[in-house]
Amino acid sequence: MIKKNLLYAQSGGVTPVINATACGLIEEARRHKDRLGKVYAGKDGILGILNEQLIDTSKESKADIAALRHTPGGGFGSCRFKLKGIEESRAQYERLIEVFKAHNIGYFFYNGGGDSADTAYKVSQISDKLGFPVQCIGVPKTIDNDLPITDSCPGFGSVAKYVAVSVMEASLDVESMASSSTRVFVLEVMGRHAGWIAAAGGLAQQKPGDPPHVILFPELPLDQEAMLKKVDKAVKTHGYCTIVVSEGVRDQQGRFLADSGRRDAFGHAQLGGVAPVVAGMITSALGYKNHWAVSDYLQRSARHIASKNDVDQAYAMGKAAVELALQGKTGVMPVVVRTSDSPYRWKVGEADLAKVANREKMMPRNFISKDGFGITAAARRYLEPLIQGEDYPPYGADGLPKYVRLKKLLVPQKLAPFEL
Ligand code: F6P
Repeated sequence: MIKKNLLYAQSGGVTPVINATACGLIEEARRHKDRLGKVYAGKDGILGILNEQLIDTSKESKADIAALRHTPGGGFGSCRFKLKGIEESRAQYERLIEVFKAHNIGYFFYNGGGDSADTAYKVSQISDKLGFPVQCIGVPKTIDNDLPITDSCPGFGSVAKYVAVSVMEASLDVESMASSSTRVFVLEVMGRHAGWIAAAGGLAQQKPGDPPHVILFPELPLDQEAMLKKVDKAVKTHGYCTIVVSEGVRDQQGRFLADSGRRDAFGHAQLGGVAPVVAGMITSALGYKNHWAVSDYLQRSARHIASKNDVDQAYAMGKAAVELALQGKTGVMPVVVRTSDSPYRWKVGEADLAKVANREKMMPRNFISKDGFGITAAARRYLEPLIQGEDYPPYGADGLPKYVRLKKLLVPQKLAPFEL
């Protein structure tokens, strides 16, 4: 029997732990050398597959693959590139199959969010139709935590931990300056249309009155007057106020407070820059001296303060993806199933890609406090386990983490170039 090769691609915004998933997948495939061929990886995601730029991971040492587990960023490169419907983008789907055929690919693993699940699903359908069946497995990842079915998404727990820790630390700073200087600190976090990351900021609050005093969620339109009242009250009661604002917050008319006007390949608005808007509202209405920060890529790459549970789950998803492939599955995605909140227990489950594709899971209303500016006990129960445990990267004598950069040697090309 000729062993089929595996093709893995990273997709969309990367996370602090997407490489832990790659590590789990490659290590598991290497454990099954008797049944599986080599693992190739698309250079910069699916774009690399279309351009027949396939990285041969068999050329990477065991130690370098192991080091992916603690290295942030996307080790093979990622991209935002949308494959549209099969009829509209037929040439691109045919090209994928042509590349699969040329390189004896039997298994395709697409590591991404909702859009990527959609692509993996479509590829699973078309590969059958075009007479070259390939097993397509989605592998979950997104810091936004907005995939359905899975209890949490690899990447989220680590970003949640970074944000909760940052809120705690920055608040201690503001508190010490407040009697004569800064009164308000505004921290902007990612998450697009879902408020999971903003909610995680709420974990910094260990007792009533602790920061953050105000959280602004994308699930609720901003009531500016109520927000300003709450900020003023916090300053008058505690001397200062910490605010966490999600990049996706909208005004009463449904417009993003911060929309750069740019769109990515999926038509998503590029968000970011809401913190200065909120800070400006405070300056003009209340006059309090304030500082603001946009956590942006810092939160998405903060592997140094990753959550151990998140790293373990990211690795487990990569490993499980190979196990599903070995069981002959296609059109599926491994998921995290929570079996208990306290003590936190979870196991690996499985979902149909068709049910994951293009669906966003928002924060339920009962996770947001009645006044709309905080989190509830139910949210805390859900969130707390996800940030638990530390998984520090090894540090070198220079005082910096030892992150790996792969060789990324390409497989020789066999096909004519493709016009994208
Ligand atoms: O989807 C993940 C995410 O980090 C969002 O939270 C954020 O809005 C977006 O990606 C940013 O994307 P990009 O890095 O392509 O600008």
